[in-house]
Amino acid sequence: MEARIIRQKFLDFFKEKGHAVLPSAPLLPENDPTVLFTTAGMHPLVPFLMGEKHPNGTRLCNFQKCIRTGDIDEVGDDVHLTFFEMLGNWSLGDYFKEDAIKWSFEFLTSDKWLGIPKEKLSFTVFKGDGDAPADIQATDIWKSLGVPEHRITYLPKSDNWWGPAGQTGPCGPDTEMFYWVGKGLPPKESNPLSDSKNWVEIWNDVFMQYNKKADGTFEPLEQKNVDTGMGLERTAAMLQGKKTVYETELFAPILEKIGTLAQKTYGEKTVSYRIIADHLRAATMMAADGVKPSNLDQGYVMRRLIRLAIRHGKLIGIEENFTHIIAKKIIHIMSDIFPELKHEEEILSTMREEEEQFQKTINHGLKEFEKLLAGFQKAFEKTGRKIEEISGKQAFRLYDTYGFPIEMTEELAKEKNLTVDRKGFEEAFKEHQQKSRTATAGTFKGGLQDHSWATTRLHTATHLLHSALMKVLGGHAKQRGSNITAERLRFDFSHPDKLTDEQIAAVEKFVNDAIASDQPVNMKVVPADEAKCLGAIGLFEEKYGDMVKVYDMGPWSKETCGGPHVEHLGQLSRFKITKQESIGAGLRRIKAILIDEE
Ligand code: ALA
Repeated sequence: MEARIIRQKFLDFFKEKGHAVLPSAPLLPENDPTVLFTTAGMHPLVPFLMGEKHPNGTRLCNFQKCIRTGDIDEVGDDVHLTFFEMLGNWSLGDYFKEDAIKWSFEFLTSDKWLGIPKEKLSFTVFKGDGDAPADIQATDIWKSLGVPEHRITYLPKSDNWWGPAGQTGPCGPDTEMFYWVGKGLPPKESNPLSDSKNWVEIWNDVFMQYNKKADGTFEPLEQKNVDTGMGLERTAAMLQGKKTVYETELFAPILEKIGTLAQKTYGEKTVSYRIIADHLRAATMMAADGVKPSNLDQGYVMRRLIRLAIRHGKLIGIEENFTHIIAKKIIHIMSDIFPELKHEEEILSTMREEEEQFQKTINHGLKEFEKLLAGFQKAFEKTGRKIEEISGKQAFRLYDTYGFPIEMTEELAKEKNLTVDRKGFEEAFKEHQQKSRTATAGTFKGGLQDHSWATTRLHTATHLLHSALMKVLGGHAKQRGSNITAERLRFDFSHPDKLTDEQIAAVEKFVNDAIASDQPVNMKVVPADEAKCLGAIGLFEEKYGDMVKVYDMGPWSKETCGGPHVEHLGQLSRFKITKQESIGAGLRRIKAILIDEE
């Protein structure tokens, strides 16, 4: 069964069960400065899981594009990916365990849907601890569906508990569904804990009944939710009887394209091929959402993905500038599902330019390597002792600073009759990983729902800026990206030229006049079509379902958005643009702040 059919069946199934189908939200959490990327389908829904009313009701489903970099070092194996699609269904205080589990089972096993033989499924449930009791109820529901006792395994919080990044926010016990990929049928005593190679997790039903507080305690949530997530690529592989996601139609054409450019075959360099395919898929999707390679935040992650792909390209003997060629293939495969890929030219030139720039870095890296060798030679002259090994730390520095994969360093070393301390490299790597995991976790601090007053005000200012740009520069000056921290707003939009001083002044004046008018901000929930008639700005097809929230700021702005906003514009004090820059062909970025006058 092809991925497109699984995706469609999932949405059809939950539509039949009264769910509204939401489009995939952008990869960049729009109003959330606390995380870099959308990591799960629930992420854009956090305000609604916490109790805010969703305009589409209490039953929702979608396929959500996600980026998870926590597993980046696993990429190259059979199942781990940095970009993946998550199929999800949600109950916002509507149905709970019973329906969620029954529907999961029906969707997986019914011939009308995925038709997986029941004997090939196994389930895990939460074992219970001091914070919450064992999930006996989930077990009873599985049993009532005919699942035998030996196919249910109890596991602790580390396995069967889900919350965003383990930090504050909505969370709860989960029950996970595993598919048997071993030969024949699973032996009776086999379970996902004892035989993790043969059981692959495909779906997770989370019962969000707690809110984890900053002090580490759990308080029951007033609204009990269901949050589920099924990995599309994995499920497709399992249902196609393929051992790995890379053999599915989602990846095979990408690998084939790589093969036409490379000198080594997939069989010879499987991991490099997979890393190139995965990393460029993620980078292409990031580019489609307006990310540009840089040394900061999302741009940094994107840069590392592209550069690692390029280095692996060298390892398999690709000499030319190739990332844009692979990106084109990726766009070709995915653009009917993700319309944001239609900015093809821009995405391809982002890749091309980054690759050109990286060539320069590689040359620096090679110089660094030469320096290392010169150092070895000097030491030899001084002490008479020959150094024959590049240390783990040195290899790691080449990896981390210049993007040299370890295999690349090993090959360069071999040419000079040197070895590389692979074990030391792996230790340095792990240490770094540990540090960056802690750092990543740090970005979640403060919870996912950063509706602080500062960000709320900047959010409203962003709407006014968008309107001002379209008024001053023309209707083409549409939003292409937005990011808000407590200190400033950042806004990306389409426009070919640098703004003149007069244009900047006119934009500031428009926003400050709006603030001075102290216009009240009103929110209405209306069908998307009606919002269009109202003349509200928004990217309907791409972002929203049938019903949308429109924030109406009278003559100043009308825009669809999830909120939050101030109540009246006077609450913004004074608006000032602090920076403008070009971020690519036809794209500009503005940073602005709000100043509180004494
Ligand atoms: N949010 C849950 C997960 O990502 C469903 O596994």
